[in-house]
Amino acid sequence: MSKMLGAASALAMCVVAGQAMADPAGCDGEETVIRFSHVVAASGHPKGDAAQLLADRINEQMEGTACMEVYPNSTLYDDDKVMEALLLGDVQLAAPSLSKFEAYTKKLRLYDLPFLFSSLDTANAYIGSDEAKDLLSALESEGYTGLGYIMSGLKQFSANKPLETPEDAAGLKFRVQTSDVAVAMIEALNASAQKLAFKEVYGALQTGVVDGQENSWCNIYTQKFFEVQDGITETNHQVLAYGVITSQEFLEGLDEETRSQFLKIVDETLAEANNQVAEKEGECRQSIMDAGGTIRELTPEQREAWVSTMKPVWQQFEGDIGADVIENAANTSAN
Ligand code: SIN
Repeated sequence: MSKMLGAASALAMCVVAGQAMADPAGCDGEETVIRFSHVVAASGHPKGDAAQLLADRINEQMEGTACMEVYPNSTLYDDDKVMEALLLGDVQLAAPSLSKFEAYTKKLRLYDLPFLFSSLDTANAYIGSDEAKDLLSALESEGYTGLGYIMSGLKQFSANKPLETPEDAAGLKFRVQTSDVAVAMIEALNASAQKLAFKEVYGALQTGVVDGQENSWCNIYTQKFFEVQDGITETNHQVLAYGVITSQEFLEGLDEETRSQFLKIVDETLAEANNQVAEKEGECRQSIMDAGGTIRELTPEQREAWVSTMKPVWQQFEGDIGADVIENAANTSAN
């Protein structure tokens, strides 16, 4: 068994073995086992595909030293529980959405600011910057190490009625992630927000517990949210990206050679995966249309109305994030 697995991990191994039946990567128990737990689809999704690509690379290039197993679709943990599981050593990698780190640092609230990035390209450029890497170091005091980012895409609103203007959203209830920025943004629309775990969203939309939600094209497609909504409005109002994290204990427990090989593979894989996001998001958007979903595009005037309604929430969070950090990120878009 891997040297870093403690009693809690050994227990988790039994659970994992019971749950997954077959060990997905065929780890033989002699290598360092790296479990990556996430909540989205196993494939056809930027995060699902990136996780699998990483597993393929590690299993090929680190054979005999390390072995990676991927657990998608919240089959092991949701995004709250996975943070605890990392510290317990029950999983070694996770990539929660950046909106879900509120309990650990308020610096990452940056990424939830509406209309911070003008396009997926500029958002991608920012997460590749040294400044973005530095932001992840805010997690270090909590026992985590941020290894990088996986980009997912820009978010779109959907609801059980047509949304063209911000006024159309007034009075509706939207599911949001565990993000106070998202709550403030929804309240700016004179709507109400309900924080719900990702795996509960489809049911909540279907049963009318909430009226709408906001997410990337690939989440809307792979989770079939479009089937239980009137349509999706192409607002591109926020970025959806993930912090790829591990525990310091795990990383420091690896010998130097293993650690540097692992980090190199992670770096290369994330860069490659992030280059493919625009294409994947385009495919998911098209798949929604092919499946009969309704997509509403905004005129420049309509879009400006969404911007001027939601963007003022930036001010509320400037103190948590830092005015200079916001300015630098926003300037990525201006360049
Ligand atoms: C994810 O993409 O990992 C989940 C996002 C959400 O909770 O909406």
